[in-house]
Amino acid sequence: MAPLTVATRALAREAASRSLSSTAARAFSASTAVRDAGSYSSPFKGEQKSTQIPDWTKYASKGSWNTNSLVSYFMVGTMGAITAAGAKSTVQEFLKNMSASADVLAMAKVEVDLNAIPEGKNVIIKWRGKPVFIRHRTAEEIDEANKVNVQSLRDPQTDEDRVQKPEWLVMLGVCTHLGCVPIGEAGDFGGWFCPCHGSHYDISGRIRKGPAPLNLEIPAYEFPGDEKLVIG
Ligand code: FES
Repeated sequence: MAPLTVATRALAREAASRSLSSTAARAFSASTAVRDAGSYSSPFKGEQKSTQIPDWTKYASKGSWNTNSLVSYFMVGTMGAITAAGAKSTVQEFLKNMSASADVLAMAKVEVDLNAIPEGKNVIIKWRGKPVFIRHRTAEEIDEANKVNVQSLRDPQTDEDRVQKPEWLVMLGVCTHLGCVPIGEAGDFGGWFCPCHGSHYDISGRIRKGPAPLNLEIPAYEFPGDEKLVIG
């Protein structure tokens, strides 16, 4: 029994010494950590100045409140005026670019020398891309146009309503059916005939027969003088 007791005591002693050494190691590392924590210094330590509001007094105006306001109003007003002028110039340039050019404006009106059209003859001119018929009518043709019973027409219109001067008939050469160009001095009524589908117009350009629903259209025109006609 005695040898076992001795061996047991030796083992207990050994375990105790190991336990003590690990406890001592933990105590040493803890004391080192405490010592390190005590020596920690924050990078922000002593930087309270960064949170202070800067001193702007040396930039502050020395003038009175009225003077300062005047300068502010002047600056705002000047900038506003410059901005308005720039905007006006931009809009003006834009509108100038969008408006019709000189050659397009020239095409808007066409001047015709009436001396060049003998009585009883047709002339076709181009205006805004469309044909315009100008007929120098004879006295017989004017009589014939006035004799028609207006109430019997598909598109009732007196000859008087269609001309400014009885001897001059001016109208668009575009068939009111589907837009063909009628032929002059043709058809059953001595006026114009559209061969596309057989529409007949009389000497006043009124529809008399065929599928066209309306008379030939009268454009805007005027006589600035006895020998001049301006269309448009
Ligand atoms: S387009 Fe003239 S009759 Fe049809």
